[in-house]
Amino acid sequence: MKRMSALLCAAQICVATLACATPLEITLPPETAVLKPSALPGYPLAQQKCSTCHSADYINFQPPGMSLTQWTGEARKMQQVYGAPISDQDVNIIGAYLAATYGSARASDADVQAASSPPAPVAKVDAMALLQSNSCLSCHAINHKVVGPAYREVATKYANDPQALAKIMSSIQKGGTGKWGNITMPPFAQLSPDDLQTLATFVLSQ
Ligand code: HEC
Ligand code: HEC
Repeated sequence: MKRMSALLCAAQICVATLACATPLEITLPPETAVLKPSALPGYPLAQQKCSTCHSADYINFQPPGMSLTQWTGEARKMQQVYGAPISDQDVNIIGAYLAATYGSARASDADVQAASSPPAPVAKVDAMALLQSNSCLSCHAINHKVVGPAYREVATKYANDPQALAKIMSSIQKGGTGKWGNITMPPFAQLSPDDLQTLATFVLSQ
């Protein structure tokens, strides 16, 4: 709060001073403040998520030289204190973009790169263990229909569906019938969200 009211004051003083100077030197600030472009994935994300409550000047006017930790902390403060609707992953990706574009970090820094990438894909070996311990493989195979559809066919059917992951997680959790024939798949309600995601990711990557 303090910083913003200080900024406002400074702006008012400027206006007052400029008003006394020759009118020719007055340049109005641009109508829409914009974020500095970058190839990092946090740039489009910040444009989308950081401009709903205030202008980009809140970011443009931060002191230079802030570290990755400081910029990430700033994004986290928006999330936790002011209720900005961004995920923990968004916080890291936006923090990395801001630190490399406005702060002391570089886009090529390993920590900026790590923070900008999505989480590592789930290891196939975990998925295999889950498939076995839940007897999925007594009804499914990768390449051919058993009782249920081949996982490869499922992956093909959902290949262009942006909601595929969520839909498949839900199908595994709730079971069901009618999408592939009239045999029913039992529900797997005991699986954790992590396990459901591992299984669905595995199926969709066949
Ligand atoms: C839900 C509304 C909301 C969203 C979305 C939001 N902010 Fe803020 N932001 C605020 C409020 C409230 C302040 C404090 C304003 C004040 O002090 O007058 C603030 C202030 C700031 C400041 C000034 C320094 C400070 O800590 O007060 C920066 C920098 C900033 N926001 C960056 C961001 C970034 C980066 C994003 C995107 C991740 C973002 N904001 C998204 C509400 C939001
Ligand atoms: C008793 C046999 C059986 C078992 C065990 C079983 N399934 Fe199925 N599964 C089916 C059948 C039958 C269908 C087709 C349902 C339909 O037509 O809607 C199906 C459909 C699916 C689909 C496609 C869902 C969709 O929305 O298109 C996926 C993915 C799937 N199963 C994964 C699994 C996983 C992962 C497990 C283990 C956790 C599992 N299945 C265990 C019989 C089974």
